[in-house]
Amino acid sequence: HRAWPGLVEAYRSRMPVEADWKIVTLLEGGTPLVSAPHLSELTGCEVYLKVEGLNPTGSFKDRGMTMAVTTAVNNGKRAVLCASTGNTSASAAAYATRAGITCAVLIPEGKIAMGKLAQAVMHGAKIIQVQGNFDDCLELARKVTADFPEIELVNSVNPARIEGQKTAAFEIVDVLGRAPDVHALPVGNAGNITAYWKGYREYHADGISDSLPRMLGVQAAGAAPLVNGAPVKNPETIATAIRIGSPASWNQAVAAKDESNGQFRAATDEKLLEAYRLVAGNEGVFVEPASAASVAGLLAAHADGWIEPGSTVVCTVTGNGLKDPDTALSGMPEVNAIPVDPVAVADALGVG
Ligand code: F0G
Repeated sequence: HRAWPGLVEAYRSRMPVEADWKIVTLLEGGTPLVSAPHLSELTGCEVYLKVEGLNPTGSFKDRGMTMAVTTAVNNGKRAVLCASTGNTSASAAAYATRAGITCAVLIPEGKIAMGKLAQAVMHGAKIIQVQGNFDDCLELARKVTADFPEIELVNSVNPARIEGQKTAAFEIVDVLGRAPDVHALPVGNAGNITAYWKGYREYHADGISDSLPRMLGVQAAGAAPLVNGAPVKNPETIATAIRIGSPASWNQAVAAKDESNGQFRAATDEKLLEAYRLVAGNEGVFVEPASAASVAGLLAAHADGWIEPGSTVVCTVTGNGLKDPDTALSGMPEVNAIPVDPVAVADALGVG
């Protein structure tokens, strides 16, 4: 039994790294593919959750960031910059710290979950709030890095990010022994669907899997440019991680959907929150609201027959529920503390 070496080492022959590069890693990847008995029962499918919230900083972004920061450092860069709805900033901050370089993050004012902000603060990132949304932040980040090439842009428009993130597809095939029939995931800036599709195609081309999944990309209804077929000027959703109106990897996402005979769907905030509660309350897996989009998409696609019973389905749950305690606790009824008294406990449990 060998310890997990991090995804670059685990899949080194498939990663664009030079032999003499020092790898910047927190041993990301190798996340569990957890069976979902409740969802399987509901849908008649064999459903698994790829639990990406168990990465070092609590989201799938770490897969891309080990590659992006490794590439930046080995190319002599001394600073990284990103736009972020929260998770990318948390991850960039951690990996930059690990590499001993500077990290600056551009975040939409007031619209990122508290846990993510706490991470960027603790890792010592230069945090710049912008009076605009994610799309505005990304445009700014692109302009700054175009003018100052010594700063590396580590959003998913950076090809190294996609190379790191494609390994999630490898891990799934390695565990299942084949590709799933359907792969559902949340879509925001569309880097991750691009990466999964690349990973599945690589394994398929090399004969490691003999089929490809249909890709089901799920957006929030108030931020669903790919579903609408046009950018959304003022995206709004409770799932702040995917509050994005103009995905950078638009064309790659459309290619993944078309080539895989897949689908884009939108889920209302109500459906997202339903799925969010279902995954925590029935499967024992606490994910952040945006992550539940994959599950909301599965349920909707099962309801209208797009996913047939008997299918093997993987839902990527992209981020840890602990990142957004405000959403988890909102709507919790106020409860008064009880006296230190067993009778009062029994009363409170309704068994008194
Ligand atoms: N789920 C979570 C939890 C995310 O943080 C993101 C993206 C996505 C899904 C969508 O992935 O952008 O590759 O389509 N978060 C980015 C960020 C935008 O800044 O953390 P995508």
